[in-house]
Amino acid sequence: MFKINENYLKLPGSYLFSTIAKKVAAFQQANPDKRIIRLGIGDVTLPIAPAIVEAMHKAVDEMGREETFHGYAPDLGYGFLREVIAEKDYKALGCPIEADEIFVSDGAKSDCGNIQEIFSADSRIAVCDPVYPVYVDSNVMAGRTGEYDSETGVWSNVIYMPCTAENNFVPALPEETPDLIYLCVPNNPTGTTLTRDQLKVWVDYANKVGAVILYDAAYEAYISEEDVPHSIFEIEGARTCAIEFRSFSKKAGFTGVRLGFTVVPKDLTCGGVMLHSLWARRHGTKFNGAPYIEQRAGEAVYSEEGNRQVMEQVAYYKKNARVIYDGLKEAGYTVFGGVNSPYVWLKVEDGMTSWEFFDYLLEKANVVGTPGSGFGPSGEGYFRLTAFGTYENTVEAVERMKALKK
Ligand code: MLT
Repeated sequence: MFKINENYLKLPGSYLFSTIAKKVAAFQQANPDKRIIRLGIGDVTLPIAPAIVEAMHKAVDEMGREETFHGYAPDLGYGFLREVIAEKDYKALGCPIEADEIFVSDGAKSDCGNIQEIFSADSRIAVCDPVYPVYVDSNVMAGRTGEYDSETGVWSNVIYMPCTAENNFVPALPEETPDLIYLCVPNNPTGTTLTRDQLKVWVDYANKVGAVILYDAAYEAYISEEDVPHSIFEIEGARTCAIEFRSFSKKAGFTGVRLGFTVVPKDLTCGGVMLHSLWARRHGTKFNGAPYIEQRAGEAVYSEEGNRQVMEQVAYYKKNARVIYDGLKEAGYTVFGGVNSPYVWLKVEDGMTSWEFFDYLLEKANVVGTPGSGFGPSGEGYFRLTAFGTYENTVEAVERMKALKK
């Protein structure tokens, strides 16, 4: 008789954003006349920029001709994309990263979820709390997280590093020593960041205790402030302790295209084994390479025209973030994030839980956000709004939320 992986039974009923989608669909069905504004999941609304569409069309045409057709892509990614990434995202910032340390994939979510496979089953993980659910859930599936306490929302074998208004959303070094440390900067969900000096503390700590930092930089395009690093490899010492994840989703609107990459430096070793070799082996076995058309689209993001167009889109979403942040602050909400990030994190109304505020906002303002407690116990009492809606919807959502305060 076959047996299932019982770790799956320990997971919450459904992924956070699926739970929200179900609730919103039920509300819409019961209230068909209401115009709901969705600022919940961080999904983009602007179409793919023209220079990138042009590159995709060209790649499609190549695929339709015998002389230029491409079959399986190299599993680690085409050289044309890995080289331009190394040049523009790393060397241009003074980061010592080579093209062959870059692994192209179908997105940061897959890589963040899969990376844990190359570490031993008894690795202890540390996460910021609140946290992007993929980091914890993928370790639950692998049986690393111990037991779940539904009262507190805490897994017994996970080290939680609270990030709240009280510590200015900067995690303190953990008291117990972790093997793997997940950091997301700029942070999902709080929209806050770490400065170079603050990140240096983590790099030094990881090197000292022999931990690996799994650094999710999916939102780096949104950084506005000078002292916030775009990559962990700007920090001296990171090559021996960090893996970085990047995404084209939030920078170039590729949520439906699917393209990302992971950087595993060759200096990151354990007992003489390069993690680079393990990830290459994993990638080669379980992944047949991101599609040629998408890798050409990714390359176009770095062209002069492509970069100008995508950064205009980023500016559009940053303007939305400003509208949310300023509008809600003016109305009397307590707000955070939104400056180096497309996410605004706010305190819910006194006396409400995050999910109660979710229901209240859906019913009274027909606005959807994400309850902070869905991201971890320290998210309770907070709520996330995304700036990825249209400008018009964003303005209207803020007006509706302002009206609730009157
Ligand atoms: C979010 O809303 O947190 C993100 O869209 C989720 C993701 O990127 O997978």
